[in-house]
Amino acid sequence: MSGAEDEYEDRRISEELLRRERRDRIKVKDADDYKVVEGVLDSRTLMVLYSLMKSGHLASLSGVVKSGKEARVYLGKAASGGDLAVKIYYAVASKFKRRIMYLEGDPRFEGIKRGPHALAELWARREFMNLKQARDAGVRVPAPVAVRGNVLLMEFIGEGGRPAPLLAESEVDRGDYDALLRYIRGLWRDAAIVHADLSEYNVFKWRGELVLFDFGSSVDARHPLALDLLRRDVETVNRFFASRGIDVADAEEVLREVLGRCRPPPGPALAAPSWSGYPGTG
Ligand SMILES: Nc1ncnc2c1ncn2[C@@H]1O[C@H](COP(=O)(O)OP(=O)(O)O)[C@@H](O)[C@H]1O
Ligand SMILES: [Mg+2]
Repeated sequence: MSGAEDEYEDRRISEELLRRERRDRIKVKDADDYKVVEGVLDSRTLMVLYSLMKSGHLASLSGVVKSGKEARVYLGKAASGGDLAVKIYYAVASKFKRRIMYLEGDPRFEGIKRGPHALAELWARREFMNLKQARDAGVRVPAPVAVRGNVLLMEFIGEGGRPAPLLAESEVDRGDYDALLRYIRGLWRDAAIVHADLSEYNVFKWRGELVLFDFGSSVDARHPLALDLLRRDVETVNRFFASRGIDVADAEEVLREVLGRCRPPPGPALAAPSWSGYPGTG
């Protein structure tokens, strides 16, 4: 499409949005929330949100729960009235470097399209898929509800529109450590994925139970760096629990236990990655 056509298309979408907006009214709680929604979401994302409303997945959207580097999480309402977490990935290519690296080598995403919008959509779809695989493996994560475009809907963990406390903000004990190691093992053995960004900031402690989230960076167990990422997850978890005075196991021992006889990881061998190093090593 030419620039002029692009512009025309953008304007057409904006007008269509305005028309629908008047018709359906995007239901936000108050004027401030509306400003938040209006100010940051591009017309493409608004279209996706409308389409999710139309299909009955989303009844309304209110304020931002958390703004991150790569995505923003909003509080939404399901048609049933329950809370939803609405994670919207930004279409900004440069901020996705790390995730692009993880993506190459993931056999589930061969022949993917490039470009900022395609990538944002891919992250959303990937997180959805990872959540689904984790959940099917019996690991407690926010239940994935729907994914469309760059928007992911999932179970809201928390109460009254406030997210549950993070592990980093909670008191922890040996039982939490053991539970987290069991989840790491479940992810590897039964879901065949590695979280790859596991830390006390991506785990909720909610009603005495751990809930793992932020699966946007998770990789398939066949990924060439899967083992390194798994080791890093274990080390991060160990460091956190050790800092809280818990007597943690040796990381290599944990790794051996997680891998069990599932080494090398299941699936066909993959070609070596075309790039060098991974996050943390430059
Ligand atoms: N399912 C959820 N339920 C409630 N709050 C959530 C949920 N997912 C994310 N959040 C909130 O959004 C924040 C950022 O989410 P996260 O998935 O970690 O994104 P990022 O990639 O920006 O780190 C979390 O720390 C939490 O406060
Ligand atoms: Mg996070």
